[in-house]
Amino acid sequence: MNAVTHASSPALPAPIGLLAELTHRCPLRCPYCSNPLELDRRSAELDTATWQRVLAEAASLGVLHVHLSGGEPTARQDIVEITRACAELGLYSNLITSGVAGALDKLDALSEAGLDHVQLSVQAVEAANAERIGGLKNAQPQKFAFAERVTALGLPLTLNAVIHRGNIAEVPALIDLAVRLGAKRLEVAHTQYYGWAYVNRAALMPAKADVDRSIRTVEEARERLKGQLVIDLVVPDYYAKYPKACAGGWGRRLMNVTPTGKVLPCHAAETIPGLEFWHVQDHSLAQIWADSPAFRAYRGTDWMQEPCRSCDRREKDWGGCRCQALALAGDAAATDPACSLSPLHGKVQALAIAESALETAPDYQYRTIGGAPRTAVPEGAPV
Ligand code: SF4
Ligand code: FES
Repeated sequence: MNAVTHASSPALPAPIGLLAELTHRCPLRCPYCSNPLELDRRSAELDTATWQRVLAEAASLGVLHVHLSGGEPTARQDIVEITRACAELGLYSNLITSGVAGALDKLDALSEAGLDHVQLSVQAVEAANAERIGGLKNAQPQKFAFAERVTALGLPLTLNAVIHRGNIAEVPALIDLAVRLGAKRLEVAHTQYYGWAYVNRAALMPAKADVDRSIRTVEEARERLKGQLVIDLVVPDYYAKYPKACAGGWGRRLMNVTPTGKVLPCHAAETIPGLEFWHVQDHSLAQIWADSPAFRAYRGTDWMQEPCRSCDRREKDWGGCRCQALALAGDAAATDPACSLSPLHGKVQALAIAESALETAPDYQYRTIGGAPRTAVPEGAPV
């Protein structure tokens, strides 16, 4: 693995993945979108040549995987050129797409340009439900046609389903759908509450009993479909015992480049006040990885407070998620309240139970570019 120079660690490992958020534009408006509440406008997006340079820098730095994401990455006119740049640089490219609007029209050219993998989002199996969640009519047949073409082209297909109160009953049907569409992998990803998902938390929070049932369903299907379908499961933080190592640990594995060229340690890092982010226009990716104040802020374990500081899991989960710690504890350096050892954990679980018990879920607040949500945070938060 490549290594880069770092003031306090001479052999800082190189990042493995680059999340290239090519645009925030998207035909869908999913209420759990992890994009920031303030979406970047098209006029401020990086141009093709800058993305090509950034990708070349990523390859030199040792990055292996590039996730072409958004918003909807195929909304970019130059998505084929950007994909070709990945292939020419030896970077494994993964297109993270909604598969609607013009995505199908570009798919053959993307395959010819060397695209390695497609990750298609599905909002639900039942069309009316899927289209209500995504906020776009007629999306479902477009997605199915897109999936069919992906497999016809011989590209590996992963389906990604974000799970919440509005679709958790459909987990068994989502597994059947993945098999029917010829997917090699299915991500059953319980909602992570940042960005728009945080705003819509009370509308999205599932009941614990339903979460437990969905986990049992996945475990049973993994056995039944061994060798046919791999199922990844992201369990919901608010009901967890220990948090996940968010982004693989801050500044350890991933770089996230926003549509305007800001480089973040995770997709929600801009919610943390006071962090200084460097920009691809001003610094190389190698400089940013090694020395950007934002990347150094929570790298390693020196910044940790108790109980993380003396916990034997501190180099497994790296204290959980900094953005969630800020959102729920009001301090980005606190132990993630998803952890059962956090003093706030009981309150977080009680809040999840109270929200999931609401007889009628609140209406979704759909994301819009230039639009602001009606409320910045859900009722009762932060805990
Ligand atoms: Fe992880 Fe910190 Fe919880 Fe220990 S106390 S399990 S390091 S979040
Ligand atoms: Fe930022 Fe988890 S989303 S650290």
